[in-house]
Amino acid sequence: MDMKERLQRLSENARRQIELATSPEKLNEARITYLGKKGELTALLKSMKEVAPEDRPKVGQMVNQARAQIEEMMEISRRQLEESIRAEQLKSEVIDVTLPAKKSLIGHRHPNTIALEEVERIFVGMGYEVVEGPEVEYADYNFTKLNIPEDHPARDEQDTFFINDRILLRSQTSPVQARKMEEGHLPIRMIAPGRVFRSDEVDATHSPSFHQIEGLVIDRHITFADLKGTLQEFARELFGPETRTKFRPHHFPFTEPSAEMDVSCFKCGGKGCRFCKGSGWIEILGCGMVHPNVLTMCGIDPEQYTGFAFGVGLERIALLKYEIDDMRLLYENDTRFLKQF
Ligand code: DAH
Repeated sequence: MDMKERLQRLSENARRQIELATSPEKLNEARITYLGKKGELTALLKSMKEVAPEDRPKVGQMVNQARAQIEEMMEISRRQLEESIRAEQLKSEVIDVTLPAKKSLIGHRHPNTIALEEVERIFVGMGYEVVEGPEVEYADYNFTKLNIPEDHPARDEQDTFFINDRILLRSQTSPVQARKMEEGHLPIRMIAPGRVFRSDEVDATHSPSFHQIEGLVIDRHITFADLKGTLQEFARELFGPETRTKFRPHHFPFTEPSAEMDVSCFKCGGKGCRFCKGSGWIEILGCGMVHPNVLTMCGIDPEQYTGFAFGVGLERIALLKYEIDDMRLLYENDTRFLKQF
């Protein structure tokens, strides 16, 4: 077979394959087969040495022509393929601009989060740092180092979720106090918000999982006056400048003396209403001077340092501030409820 015939046959085969190519990928395969570096046309060129020297220019011209022809066929086919793909796309992606738009649902902050951010803002403004501790905690930190001995009723298995006899789900954020004191960097001014767990039945004011915010200040010469001044300021910032506070003696194992703080009812101003159940006061938090035993167990010399601590229920604040009368609403995640805040 002479060169001319071989070229014609090659062009013919290329044309057929190009016609059959139904996608850009198939077309590319054809390009590689005929025009590629290891393609048929290149192979043909390599066999030029078999051609008589005087015929070579002519045969070379024919090869170039064949190449140009195949390239042109490919270009035409490529354009046709692109056009039909585009047409298909336009058909399948019709946009009806008259349809009503899909509403995008943007979430927003939960009442608990709003209340927490408010509390954090107040204490950070007073120079406190915000720290965290583990939710799965050692009984040692949750109880022992907080001066709660083995036989104390607070350790009752009925109230606390134990994982084994050494590990539990923390029943309060107070263990973060012990962890922070053990780090040994004094003075300390911290709040520690977080989730706590108690084996309680769910009702309007109880949940097996809720949140507390712990507070701790340790420095030289800290007195009960510092505690009162700080918490009074906190109450005013949170509930309004008219808010009065009252400290009632109480007992917590890790503080001595201990107190509970009430705020004057921000609904009636203290006259007594349904909100404060007629008393004019609302109980808000537990607090006290850090017990010397706790300081000692956490590596701080009670002769050199003193401090105060407090614990607030976050849900309690959210419920009061937003006048929500059932705690369960905070956990049901009903957007009709949540989007009101
Ligand atoms: N941990 C206490 C509770 O869960 C609250 C509390 C009271 C924390 C007094 C304190 C404190 O730091 O000083 O009931």
